[in-house]
Amino acid sequence: MTASPVGRATDRVEGRLKVTGAARYSADHPAQGTAYAHVVTSTIARGTITGVDTAAALAAPGVLRVYAAPEPRLRLYPVAEQVRGFSENYAPLQDADVRFHGQIIAMVVAETSEQARDAAALVTATYDARPPRTSLADGPRVEAGPSTGGTPSAVTVLAPGTDSIDAALAASDVVVEAAFHQPVQHHVAMEPQATLAVWNGDRVTVHAGAQIPAAYALVLSQRLGVLPGNVQLITRHVGGGFGGRVPVWSDAPLAAAAARELGRPVKLVLTREQVFTLAGHRSHLTQTVRLGASNDGILNAVSHESVAEMPASGGWNLLPAHSSSDTLYSTPNLRTDPHQVILDLPASRAMRGPNEAPGAFALETAMDELAIATGVDPVELRLRNYATVGPATGRPWSSKHLDECYRVGARRFGWSERDAAPRARVDGQWLLGTGMASAVYPATLHPANVRVRLLDDDTAVVSTAISDLGTGGWTMVAIAGADALGIPLERVTPEIGDTALPQGAPAVGSSATHSTVPMVVQAARDTIAELKRRAVTDAGSPWHGTDAADLRYERGSLHGHGRSMTFGQLLTTLGAPGVDATAAGPGGAPAQYGYHSFGAHFCEVRVNRFTGEARVTRFTTVADVGRIINARAARSQLVGGVIFGIGHALLEENPLELDTGRLAASTLADYLVPVHADIPDIDVHLLDRPDPVLTGPLGDGDEEVGTRSLGARGLGEIGTVGSAAAVGNAVFHATGIRVRDVPITPDKLL
Ligand code: MOS
Repeated sequence: MTASPVGRATDRVEGRLKVTGAARYSADHPAQGTAYAHVVTSTIARGTITGVDTAAALAAPGVLRVYAAPEPRLRLYPVAEQVRGFSENYAPLQDADVRFHGQIIAMVVAETSEQARDAAALVTATYDARPPRTSLADGPRVEAGPSTGGTPSAVTVLAPGTDSIDAALAASDVVVEAAFHQPVQHHVAMEPQATLAVWNGDRVTVHAGAQIPAAYALVLSQRLGVLPGNVQLITRHVGGGFGGRVPVWSDAPLAAAAARELGRPVKLVLTREQVFTLAGHRSHLTQTVRLGASNDGILNAVSHESVAEMPASGGWNLLPAHSSSDTLYSTPNLRTDPHQVILDLPASRAMRGPNEAPGAFALETAMDELAIATGVDPVELRLRNYATVGPATGRPWSSKHLDECYRVGARRFGWSERDAAPRARVDGQWLLGTGMASAVYPATLHPANVRVRLLDDDTAVVSTAISDLGTGGWTMVAIAGADALGIPLERVTPEIGDTALPQGAPAVGSSATHSTVPMVVQAARDTIAELKRRAVTDAGSPWHGTDAADLRYERGSLHGHGRSMTFGQLLTTLGAPGVDATAAGPGGAPAQYGYHSFGAHFCEVRVNRFTGEARVTRFTTVADVGRIINARAARSQLVGGVIFGIGHALLEENPLELDTGRLAASTLADYLVPVHADIPDIDVHLLDRPDPVLTGPLGDGDEEVGTRSLGARGLGEIGTVGSAAAVGNAVFHATGIRVRDVPITPDKLL
């Protein structure tokens, strides 16, 4: 029997292309006659452009066009209300308004990228400037809206007879109150935003990195004022997304509009500096968590308030308590209260556990403070408050093994040897400490369409327009196809990243795998049913005139009436090159359950007593993420998530200049992310307990069409939820200093 590849450590199917440089990212695609664009950005944060001097740029070598705001030659249109979440609130170069520092105010197109960049440096502008709103204390304060999943933003649950969360807190034996501040952070995908637009009549083919190809093409069609079907988006290899490739930013519509106006393909690649203001960031915010508990640490009240930036130019509705404070612990009284302040900043966007990572930093730091206040061990404290139903919903989970994460993690890490007292372990210059935190991330089943095609050479093609941001999507599709069809992985060709394919699941919210896999199984079933139908109805078939119910499919072959043929042999006999079927999944899972992935993080740090430098020396993560499809990619996702958490805790920050509205960091030399030297070997353990509900009934491996791939649940972001708090809690344990405004830089530890 062909062993299913499900759960094994499988190399990326596109790995060779990537390591040999043969994989083409958006900017790598060639097109005959391409012209190159370069954008010019504003040097004020708010006001009106009074003039743009383009004369010097127009006279520079190789320059074809200089477009400047307001630009009548590049018509771009507003997008419909329903897709607002996938774009900014304005179309670039259509008016003279400046909405943030670093907005596009002009664009040069030239014969070469060097000429375009050179000429762009010659463009100057004058402004009528107004003071920007930049402080969370400044602007109009609005209540946050519901989450994209429809979850209400503000949640209040009160025990009978309790009037308010404040009353519940006041009635508690122990109260912990902690206020947090988090600066602007960035996605910093390796590949900067890049677009190649090629028109053919009134149709345009766009190469660009996109997490949701169908939404991206739809928004782009609206910006350009063409029919939705007239935009084909190709997004095969993508150098990271992390939320920053969900929307259509200003660059892609401008490149496409210029290509249309010029009658030539146009390529536009943003510089790293431009990416910092033109492709999103995580909103900065303040949070206040209040926990009320009994003397033995049983929670009586959880209150989580937040005030986050909402850029006027467009932004992410940040709900940091969502899925951390409103989900993680059992409590009779719960209040989440998110607010937003409208500021004149670049558009913000969902980023790497968008609500959950900042929210869990606050909640899980406060839980550590409660552990100190009550003298209860941090793991034991979490077990004492273990939720078996959602505290806000009352629903049980489809599958939850967080208690096992704590126990397995504590054992692997050696938690029991811990001395609870802070600043107790010293090794020469270094203070040693350990800390832990929980992780939770919602699992949403999104609509997905998958086509399975069997070919006459005994290979199969599995097609779905998902995007692989480097996460392993290509390989996941191949594994699910091989499992469903019972054929070797090498005989399955995955096709993704092209809106000409059946519309795939969005690569957001850690949901692409569990949304896609059930539809691969369904499409394989439907394709085999079609193969059987052809086997009994086609005149050339040896099974012609028999009953399809007598045929059995197994491991790439049909069997029946004493005869066996591979699907390739049958298709060859029939003279049919292939047979296919497409399955369409509507998304959604039974409403009586809650669906989340869970995890527990354990961290050891060393903090230098003299310099304040904090180094993470050990990290163990145990995650409950359903069935593992690809052990290698899964571990890699968890490791990446923890690295994000370490960056969040210790390094990542873009300081905002309050007077100018300028984000100070614009390179990877001043916006710091972890490098290899910052990261220890990370111990990842995945429980591999299939979710029996989220993706439908589990198979036992004996089905005609394999269902071993069912039971997966998202794992893309769970590693980044709570991991920053585990670092911060370890820093507190090492030093006795509690830092609530990340990043925990050396100056805060001296
Ligand atoms: Mo992700 S922040 O859901 O793209």
